[in-house]
Amino acid sequence: MFDLAGRTALVTGAGQNTGAGIARALAGRGALVLVNDLAAERAAAVADEITADGGRATPLPFDVTDLDAVTRAITISGPVDIVVNNAGNGGAEQMRPTPFRDMDPADWESPIEVNLRGVMNCCHAAINPMVERGWGRIITISSGAGASGVGIGVAPYSAGKGGGLGFMRSFALENAAFGVTANSIALGLMDNVGSSDVTAHLATSVPCKRLGSPDDVGALCVYLASDDAGWITAQTINLNGGSVTS
Ligand SMILES: NC(=O)c1ccc[n+]([C@@H]2O[C@H](COP(=O)([O-])OP(=O)(O)OC[C@H]3O[C@@H](n4cnc5c(N)ncnc54)[C@H](O)[C@@H]3O)[C@@H](O)[C@H]2O)c1
Repeated sequence: MFDLAGRTALVTGAGQNTGAGIARALAGRGALVLVNDLAAERAAAVADEITADGGRATPLPFDVTDLDAVTRAITISGPVDIVVNNAGNGGAEQMRPTPFRDMDPADWESPIEVNLRGVMNCCHAAINPMVERGWGRIITISSGAGASGVGIGVAPYSAGKGGGLGFMRSFALENAAFGVTANSIALGLMDNVGSSDVTAHLATSVPCKRLGSPDDVGALCVYLASDDAGWITAQTINLNGGSVTS
């Protein structure tokens, strides 16, 4: 089960944290992984690490917000069977304690560009060859913030992630009859720093009493990317340790 041998998978924003975990998990099941990131050196380091572990990986740096760059990269690398839209910018830098009413409009651009346009760009560049071959898997890493309110300063991020969820549902229905599935994973709080007082405090609010790990996300991506998941599409799956979602 969940064998990905012979598949080529593009993982965006895979130079660190969640994306690197997804790349490792897909490579662990036999996929050739194209490790994308804006930061070329991080993409190369993750690809090297996978290769050193006996997997197959190639760094493929580009900016997901640049449609020409995305199309060029996907065309050059040959048919991509699996796309994981993980690149995002929902870190602390986006979570400013500034209410929307006081925000500089320039601060809205990046969360929309990366979390919505970046997803649309990668789907646009990858979909036609998938339809022609009658097989494809597209997974978008979203956030609980895309479906429910989170707090002060998060509105533009919520807009980008929520837009991505809506896009994925309609995009999935357009392509369901062609053997291509498209699903989103709405993540809860992830542990990007290892254990600390802050993560321990945040974990108390999660029913499972821990934050999410890259391996948690990688395992679900392996399933969604596999042949075995051919009848699941147009879904948003909450992966959040049991946190309540609306
Ligand atoms: N960290 C969390 O608690 C959390 C919670 C919910 C959802 N998410 C989502 O999960 C995904 C991964 O989160 P993370 O915490 O690992 O993020 P991260 O910031 O640690 O890593 C994101 C990676 O994406 C890359 N990236 C950013 N913009 C890019 C672009 N335009 N083109 C290509 N690469 C780009 C960055 O260089 C970085 O390496 C994101 O989509 C994020 O929004 C994270």
